[in-house]
Amino acid sequence: MCGIVGYIGTKKASPILINGLIRLEYRGYDSAGISTIEKDGLSIMKDKGRVNNLYNLPGIDDLEGTIGIAHTRWATHGKPSKENSHPHMDNSKAFSVVHNGIIENYNELKKFLTDNGYTFYSQTDTEVIPNLIHYYYEKDNTNDDNKFLKAVKNACLDLKGSFALEVICKDFPENMIVVRKDSPLVIGKGNGENYVSSDIPAILSFTKDFYLLNDLEFVILSKNDAKFYDKDLNMIEKETKTIEWNASSAEKDGFEDFMLKEIYEQPTAIRETIGSKLNENSKCEFDELNFTKEYLNSINKIYIIACGTAMHAGLVAKNVMEKLCKIQTEVDIASEFRYREPLVDKNTLSIFISQSGETADTIAALKLCKEKGAKTIAISNVIGSSITREAHYSIYTHAGPEIAVASTKAYTSQVVLLTLLAIYFAEILGNSKDIIENLKKDILDLPKKVDETLKDSEIIKNFAKKVYQEHDIFFLGRGIDETVARESALKLKEISYIHADSYPAGELKHGPIALIEKDITVIGIMTDPKLVDKTVSNIQEVISRGAKTLIVTNQKIDSKMFDLVIKIPETNAFISPILSVIPLQLFAYYISKEKGLDVDKPRNLAKSVTVE
Ligand code: AGP
Ligand code: GLU
Repeated sequence: MCGIVGYIGTKKASPILINGLIRLEYRGYDSAGISTIEKDGLSIMKDKGRVNNLYNLPGIDDLEGTIGIAHTRWATHGKPSKENSHPHMDNSKAFSVVHNGIIENYNELKKFLTDNGYTFYSQTDTEVIPNLIHYYYEKDNTNDDNKFLKAVKNACLDLKGSFALEVICKDFPENMIVVRKDSPLVIGKGNGENYVSSDIPAILSFTKDFYLLNDLEFVILSKNDAKFYDKDLNMIEKETKTIEWNASSAEKDGFEDFMLKEIYEQPTAIRETIGSKLNENSKCEFDELNFTKEYLNSINKIYIIACGTAMHAGLVAKNVMEKLCKIQTEVDIASEFRYREPLVDKNTLSIFISQSGETADTIAALKLCKEKGAKTIAISNVIGSSITREAHYSIYTHAGPEIAVASTKAYTSQVVLLTLLAIYFAEILGNSKDIIENLKKDILDLPKKVDETLKDSEIIKNFAKKVYQEHDIFFLGRGIDETVARESALKLKEISYIHADSYPAGELKHGPIALIEKDITVIGIMTDPKLVDKTVSNIQEVISRGAKTLIVTNQKIDSKMFDLVIKIPETNAFISPILSVIPLQLFAYYISKEKGLDVDKPRNLAKSVTVE
């Protein structure tokens, strides 16, 4: 989830690029780098860590080039290091490239290029791109003006995955080529100069006129011009769009808070997490894992261990693991698990979930399982984080940096990844083929359905306005919906400071119903067709005692019974939490806003909990 910037004009490019990178640093800060075209050819300066390190590199002020590209990285492939930093060059040092996204078929392309004599110096997926461009450039015997463009286009058509690219070439010092597919990129039109950026706010201080690109549209930029081409290289016309935002929203991508931005990033986070692991017609693949049928048959228990929201993702996954793999699956809170002498041995597979990868209790629980001879898998959102260094295997959510303390996109990405893991195990075991076939389709449809679900935000905002001054809010659900009730209650309490509790709907009359009185708000989640009637009955019981009700459902229910019903798209019950949690993330967010609280940095909390 990096940030990229580009400049072409008459001014020195490097200060403009660094200014842009600073504004994009929220997108990642594993390393930063720039490449400009100098009198003697392409130059690259880059370093591990924040943009500040780049800014302080000796010689950076001496760069005179008036065309350049820049990158601030959030590592997906290859650890944060100088060699993995962008920009990357091809072997002949003719092309320099920055990339935001993930190239899913990079292994295949790397092999092809290696067989054709290319050498790789980094562990990134990105490094295949400049070399592939060079490969096509060299293959083209013509000398026409579009040779650079043709090479970039041919390379892009070979790439699977997501990319926003800026490419410069020493043979074309007056041009920069940019293209995007499933990763953001905009072009800012200046006077005798042009800008490129991952988001609009980063370059708002330079221009308010933007060209917005569609997937696989190619642009040749020069200082006075921007020529647009479709994927067959037919020229197309594009109008600029004038943006009325002000530059101060830069760090949050135009959103008021990181949390809101992260809620809206969920379609992308899910798409990136699915990556190349899942295709409808082939088996689910995890390059990082090499599990055999014999090993999986030897497991008698799976433990999923985590804290907070990550633990709630584990609760969702218990269902799919047990149903698809037919292996008993237990979910536990790390800080409890580690102190209660759990029954773990070499026949236990233990899975640890941690967005940050730094949560002390989760790491300690992992170490305990290792000592007891269990195999350990870490699921993290941060490459190279502590937990991934301890585990036997590490797999990643690709949700991009999550800055708001309240976890949103990491949770939905964790549920996606765990579901893929269950499919991966079940396919090795040869189990549940019929369920898997439909489940795969539903997973691939998720980004679109998440987008649809996000459209209900205004209705939720209005409901939040009605209830934000309350002191207690209850969340009810059964089965998988009960896990969402827990997650939603946690979200609400951590950012609104309202006391929120969740209960399995059927447990209500065993005690908690004593708390229900006139006008109290009760939220019901109902996505499981088998259980919907039962939960409706439980909600009736609270309505009879005067409660106001908000229902999140994908089932046909009689809306008139409730104060508000949010309809979400239908999907497989195993993954319905990914959709049903979204209105409730927004609900927590808008309540916090109504109360005028600091949504991103709630009191007493930290993003990663590195103490017990
Ligand atoms: C989520 O909104 C919380 N801030 C918190 O529960 C969090 O999920 C928990 O601390 C675990 O963090 P981790 O995923 O980084 O290990
Ligand atoms: N996949 C590339 C890398 O790991 C780009 C990541 C990014 O978007 O920052 O280097």
